Amino acid sequence: MTARVAGGFLLFWASANAACSGDECPSEDSDFMGALQVHKPSSWCVGKKNGDCANIGRPVNGIWYVCMNGEAKECPKNGGQCCSSGPAPPPEDCYPGMEDATPPPPGNEAVPTQAEFEAALELLDLAAVKVDVEALLTDSQPWWPADFGNYGPFFVRLAWHCSGTYRNTDGVGGCGGGRQRFDPEASWEDNTNLDKARALLWPIKQKYGIGLSWADLFILAGTQSLRSMGTPITTYCAGRMDDGNGTNSLPLGPSTIQEKVAPCTGSKNGECQERPLDTSLAPTTVGLIYVNPEGLMGEPDPTNTFDLIRITFGKMGHDDRSTVALIGGGHAFGKCHGACNIPVADHPAGYPPDMAYEESECIWQGKCGTGPEQGIGNNTWTSGFEGEWTTTPTQWTNGYFKNLLADDWEKHIGPGGLWQWRRPGSSTMMLTSDVALLYDFRYRALVEEFAANMTALDEAFDKAWSGLTTNGGGWSSKRKCDGPMPIVMLDSDVDKAA
Ligand code: HEM
Repeated sequence: MTARVAGGFLLFWASANAACSGDECPSEDSDFMGALQVHKPSSWCVGKKNGDCANIGRPVNGIWYVCMNGEAKECPKNGGQCCSSGPAPPPEDCYPGMEDATPPPPGNEAVPTQAEFEAALELLDLAAVKVDVEALLTDSQPWWPADFGNYGPFFVRLAWHCSGTYRNTDGVGGCGGGRQRFDPEASWEDNTNLDKARALLWPIKQKYGIGLSWADLFILAGTQSLRSMGTPITTYCAGRMDDGNGTNSLPLGPSTIQEKVAPCTGSKNGECQERPLDTSLAPTTVGLIYVNPEGLMGEPDPTNTFDLIRITFGKMGHDDRSTVALIGGGHAFGKCHGACNIPVADHPAGYPPDMAYEESECIWQGKCGTGPEQGIGNNTWTSGFEGEWTTTPTQWTNGYFKNLLADDWEKHIGPGGLWQWRRPGSSTMMLTSDVALLYDFRYRALVEEFAANMTALDEAFDKAWSGLTTNGGGWSSKRKCDGPMPIVMLDSDVDKAA
């Protein structure tokens, strides 16, 4: 089993299940929002690595967990962390110069009232914020150097992962609320290292205050990045109200609530869309935005990946045209990060926030390389894949589609130890989920269209990005846009109520 996310998760899961039986195995998590209960299904291994997994006993009163240090503790009945050994060190101690934009679990930050937000939003100078965001893109910081001297692709990924949680099955998710800062989303494996992207934006958030919500800032950062790299995006709208904690993301999982309202319908995490009509859940894997990039359960088989892309992007609200435009338009930019081959179970990317706070460790401090450059720049490990999709990763082109159609892609194990794809004589790479677009005739026709017609790509991507970043709740009716109001917003409940 070579899967990155699903692999780590399943090894833990399987081991913990094998280790206990009968009454020793807790059947469900508690309902309150203690950090461990939120993040760890009760059958999850709670050791640092597979093999450390210990039984979790259920006492008569309360719930017992085994902490990372091996100590068994009863969780406090009114919430809080049962295994906390103190807060994670401040980011400044881990990455000198980095600001702290990922609050400790479970969150609970003060947010403005709707009236306060709307009054401040009216005064917000959007043009000035855009200037500051654009200046930030090329202001590379030594604590997290920008790839190719440009944070644009990183912010596009931030905005996509904030928005891509939306599911039209029950309306949960979307970037409104800005809950990516809080668990459970903050600790999703797919959100690895996005704490750095949020930290880069913190000075801009501080400068503009409550009129600029975190959610609006995430999407503005992604949208201005796209525009500055040449993508014609017609409209950006501000007016997403922030949440003060991650409660509204609990149905996205992992959590007891998600297991009830949107269960995984396969026997394993990673196969959650086995019966897609039976669940509101949208991704194949809890903790990923949509599909496993390596292929179903880490098997690099593009022929059984395209149908999963259709199911999961369909639940996100996208038809085939939007799906292909978004994937290939997004992957026109940036790169994958998997600088070295450390087993996933040994946390090559470091600890997600939930584990880091339990262990008083730095959040996602990568282990590749040595010395001051360890875990950053060319030593970054985020997804475990390595390389870029195009030879112009900071320019808007249809190069992704042209490259993909070369059709001589071969799978191999990349530098990060995961299956990815390469072409003879080319420095570029593809993921199994990219190559899958060639194996479905409807997707392939769109790949061919976008490779041949840049205007078609421009229009399809613009429309899809607009839908992606505005879908979901959390909007104020006082929102303002720098272009025509997106169609999805004209149909929204906010407008009907306004
Ligand atoms: C099937 C759907 C998708 C999969 C499986 C996928 C997977 C990935 C993976 C594995 C990475 C590498 C992360 C890293 O190691 O840093 C990545 C990066 C990226 N993705 Fe996607 N992605 C998908 C769709 C999208 C979409 C819809 C967009 C935007 C519209 C997008 C934009 C990006 C960008 C810009 C990067 C580069 C980030 C950077 O350079 O730091 N992706 N994606």
